[in-house]
Amino acid sequence: MFNLKRQPQRQHLQKNRIMTRNVLFAVFVVLVVSSISFGITKFGDMVFDDKAGSMKKAGVSPAVFPHSKHEELYKCDACHPKIFKDKRGVNDITMQKNIDGKFCGSADCHNSEKAFPLYHCNKCHAAKK
Ligand code: HEC
Ligand code: HEC
Repeated sequence: MFNLKRQPQRQHLQKNRIMTRNVLFAVFVVLVVSSISFGITKFGDMVFDDKAGSMKKAGVSPAVFPHSKHEELYKCDACHPKIFKDKRGVNDITMQKNIDGKFCGSADCHNSEKAFPLYHCNKCHAAKK
C-alpha cells in the first residue's frame, strides 16, 4: 500500500527535477545568446596608427581609442555603422575629417560639450611612442 502511494510521488519529484534542469539550461542559453547579440563585448583600448608617419611629423603619438569606455557610455548603434564601420582599420580617420565633423568630431562627440574638444591633442594621441 505504502509503496504504491510513494511511487507516483517519486516520479513526480523526478519530473520536477528534470523540469528544473531544463529551465536552468534554457536560462543559460538565453544569457549566452543575448550577451552575444546585445554586444557585451568590451574591446578594450584600440591604438590607431595607420597614419603613424604624419603623426610623428606633427609631433603627436598614435591615437588611443578606449572602445570599452565608449561601450559603457553609448549604444553600439550610436557609432556603428553611421560614424564608424565596425571593422578595424577601414575607416581612414584623419584630423581634417575630425575637424569637419566626421568620425571623432561628429556632432555630440569631440566637437560638442559632451566630450573633451579636439584641441586637446594629447588626450587622444596618448600611445607610448
Ligand atoms: C563611440 C563610438 C563607438 C561605440 C559606441 C562602439 N564602437 Fe565599436 N568601434 C568604434 C571604432 C572607432 C572602432 C575602430 C574602427 C577602425 O579601426 O577603423 C570600432 C571597432 C569595432 C569592431 C571591430 C573590431 C575589430 O577587431 O575589427 C567591432 C566588432 C565593434 N566595434 C563592435 C561594437 C559593439 C558591439 C559596440 C557596442 C557594445 C560598439 N562597437 C560600440 C567605435 C565605437
Ligand atoms: C578625439 C581624439 C583626437 C583628438 C583630440 C586629436 N586627434 Fe588627431 N587623430 C585622431 C585619430 C583617431 C586619428 C587617426 C589615426 C590613425 O588612424 O592613424 C588622428 C590622426 C591625426 C594625424 C594623422 C592624420 C592626419 O590627419 O594627418 C595627425 C597629424 C593628428 N591626428 C594630429 C592631431 C593634433 C595636432 C591634435 C590637436 C590639435 C589632434 N590630432 C587631436 C584622434 C584625435
